[in-house]
Amino acid sequence: MCGIVGYYGPREPKEVILKGLKSLEYRGYDSAGVAILDHGHFKRVRAEGKLGNLENKLSGEKFDGRLGIGHTRWATHGRPSERNAHPHCVGGVSIVHNGIIENYAELRERLIAQGAIFESETDSELIAHLLSEEVKVQGDLLKSVLSVLPKLQGAYSVVAVWENQADTMVAFKNGPPLVLGVGKDEMFMASDIQAIMPYTKKVVFLEDNDVAWICGSEFKIVGRDGSERNPPLTEMEWSPEQVQKGGYQHYMLKEIFEQPRAVAAAISPHIQLDSQTVRLHQVGFSGAAPHELTRLNPESDWATTEKVFSEVDKVMIVACGTSYYAGMIGKYLIERLARVPVEIDIASEFRYRHPILDSKSLTIVISQSGETADTLAALRLVRAAGGKVLSICNVRNSSIDRESDGHLYMNAGAEIGVASTKAFTATMALIHVLAVAIAKVKGAISKDAEKIEVQALLAAPSHLDTVLAFEKFFAQAAEILKSVKGFLYMGRGAHYPIALEGALKLKELAYMHAEGYAAGEMKHGPLALIDEKMVIVMLAPSDELYDKTVSNLEEAKARGGKVISLGTGDNKRLKDLSDHYLALPEAPQVIYPLIETIPLQLLAYHVANSLGHDVDQPRNLAKSVTVE
Ligand code: G6P
Repeated sequence: MCGIVGYYGPREPKEVILKGLKSLEYRGYDSAGVAILDHGHFKRVRAEGKLGNLENKLSGEKFDGRLGIGHTRWATHGRPSERNAHPHCVGGVSIVHNGIIENYAELRERLIAQGAIFESETDSELIAHLLSEEVKVQGDLLKSVLSVLPKLQGAYSVVAVWENQADTMVAFKNGPPLVLGVGKDEMFMASDIQAIMPYTKKVVFLEDNDVAWICGSEFKIVGRDGSERNPPLTEMEWSPEQVQKGGYQHYMLKEIFEQPRAVAAAISPHIQLDSQTVRLHQVGFSGAAPHELTRLNPESDWATTEKVFSEVDKVMIVACGTSYYAGMIGKYLIERLARVPVEIDIASEFRYRHPILDSKSLTIVISQSGETADTLAALRLVRAAGGKVLSICNVRNSSIDRESDGHLYMNAGAEIGVASTKAFTATMALIHVLAVAIAKVKGAISKDAEKIEVQALLAAPSHLDTVLAFEKFFAQAAEILKSVKGFLYMGRGAHYPIALEGALKLKELAYMHAEGYAAGEMKHGPLALIDEKMVIVMLAPSDELYDKTVSNLEEAKARGGKVISLGTGDNKRLKDLSDHYLALPEAPQVIYPLIETIPLQLLAYHVANSLGHDVDQPRNLAKSVTVE
């Protein structure tokens, strides 16, 4: 994963790079470092752990140069330590790298045999070794990069600098994202536009195999063969959000509380309030790039979207992590409402299982960040086979957003907590709207039925608001819950993906053993886990599967498990079977998966918090996973 920043210009490079790294810390926080020109040489400062440690180390440092690079790391090769922190500096060349060099063992051995001395355990350091050898021969950083590139296998984005060319940065990529920012007399390179937007809105998104050469305030983009490419300079409309905790102890808690608003923002562009109907807005299947969507004519945009949906005979949903669970809900909704078969897969499995792709299937990829490497690879696989991709992203102009045929946005606002919360509920609501839209085009839903779905969705934000009140319960219960052996989350039908998501949240944040299970599967294994030290979280709102779910709860209770159940209203049967019963508000059945998500997020948040864990930045994880 990792976040990288490069800067050349009249501002203090230290300040620009630190601010940039701050906005990229979601990509990893195992260590951080900078290399900035000072008296003709790169001065390197690195620190293990979060960016704050580097900030402290840098507080008294001064640099007189105009050029610098910085990095925040998520460790792949080599444990988190200062020694393994980037930048890596060899013979006047400094580099920062995001990704994995797959043939590193072989390259490293060869370099060691030639006398190179490695100071870290990383795969990245060898790029600095290779370049430092090459600049001796070529006398030029760009030429050296072009010579070294054919030797590298794997996924990488790199920014390299050399002290003999004190106004030059060379960046190259194959896989993880890189953006070039063009300011007035200043230039930026970064993993994400967030690090650039405070200074300039003019950017070039690098494509794989591009090499960007920046010299003073000039730049050019060349291919691996050195031939010049003229990619478009994109003028961004987007302004960086000022993200603050707004009085909450953690971003995650704030994001949990933002969900009523996030869900409303996700669905409202696509719902016509007067007629209570659905019509997707700014999807852009006609070929508009994400930054051009606002200029679309709504009539012709909907007409092209209708055409795409009418030709579809199968939907595939591909995503990772929490986005995958939102996709599972999508399968239930699209199949129920549109009667179109839906296949769903984890992106890392999908991309290697030789999926059957044809032009009549629509692939929906879901990604909050829009940068998840496996999801991006799945998207490319589908498009290369001639299939259409509709993406659901939160981050606009991210790689997945830019490379898809159609675009839908979660509109959840910046999500900072590494464990996804509001992007999950926003996606569930949005995919519900999408399911209705496909159903309409397919003639599978009547006008009255459409209204019922729309009314249910419109009611969701206020029900989400109501269940936020469980905060107090979990704040108190956490003290007891943190010392149990483990958690089994169970549900049937559309509650099953929520059980999976609830268990994932607890694993991510509290580092406790938790499993999500389809309640009907319990007797095929998990029942053996149950004793009085095991907590069962049963999702049992009143719906057509309620009686069956309660039977499964009886079985679990009979084995001595401690039960927290979530049901509808004042439910005596569930109360009698549970140690704690949480009464969800009376609501349309179809939005219970949304509603019951919030208590599960609160449970994970409070247990983790009472264990003293860093809730916003759980150990070993990163928000944007740009390596496979
Ligand atoms: C990481 C994050 C998860 C997220 C997953 C997929 O694992 O920690 O919260 O669900 O990536 O990310 P995406 O950005 O593709 O939704």
